[in-house]
Amino acid sequence: MFTPPELLPHGGSTPGAQGSQDRSWSDFPLDSPERQLWGDLPEFVFLLQELSVALYQHLLGLQDSSSSPEPPGADKELKLLCCDIDPELIRRAQQSSPFPASISFASLDIMDPGAREPFLSSFLQRFGRSSFDIGFCMSVTMWIHLNHGDGGLLEFLALLASLCTFLLLEPQPWRCYRAAARRLRRLGRHDFEHFRSLRINGDMAESITRILTQECAMELVCSFGSTSWDRSLLLFRSTTAHPQGSD
Ligand SMILES: C[S@@+](CC[C@H](N)C(=O)[O-])C[C@H]1O[C@@H](n2cnc3c(N)ncnc32)[C@H](O)[C@@H]1O
Repeated sequence: MFTPPELLPHGGSTPGAQGSQDRSWSDFPLDSPERQLWGDLPEFVFLLQELSVALYQHLLGLQDSSSSPEPPGADKELKLLCCDIDPELIRRAQQSSPFPASISFASLDIMDPGAREPFLSSFLQRFGRSSFDIGFCMSVTMWIHLNHGDGGLLEFLALLASLCTFLLLEPQPWRCYRAAARRLRRLGRHDFEHFRSLRINGDMAESITRILTQECAMELVCSFGSTSWDRSLLLFRSTTAHPQGSD
């Protein structure tokens, strides 16, 4: 089952979803309101899959080898875990992954502790780890915030800080929240339940930096300016975690 997260204000129920429950994304016609709001699935498959493969190649210095087989016995071992709430997106990303032994895709609602905790700890245990060296969180904070409110955003940031030694984060700016809410209204849907009551608002990069540095034991290492989508790219480091090299 896939329901676009913006239709999941409680992380589960679908008020105003008008019969969209229990349908897969491909059940929605191309011109349906759901697809107009969220974007076309193949783009997300492309993004999720391409982003993770590009990161993998960049971190291993393999930029030009997208069509080459997995490097046998590369002297650096790198494992990526890519999670998304959308199982269909994950299924398609798995199907086309050029590095299946190194990049794992998993369908996971990161806000569901009952699913998240056993899954992440068993993944980390496989490699004798208790945390990730680095987490990448690109354009996700707004959906967590809109669907789970201020409390959800705080919980999500605390979770990332507890799981990662480094964290590269691309928060959506407040104008994206307004645009998402506008699109929802234009589609005749109810507003995101939390949108009007969010007390964390305005400069989201600044708010998220403040939360991570003042409440989550992280420090800002670098602000890389803006992406081509005019979003900040922020690198944080845990002030308490010690990197766990595999020696
Ligand atoms: C704008 S897309 C960004 C995708 C990818 N990070 C990128 O930059 O290409 C936001 C993604 O967050 C995912 N998402 C939203 N809420 C989630 C949750 N609670 N758990 C896991 N993934 C979630 C959505 O399914 C969607 O694929």
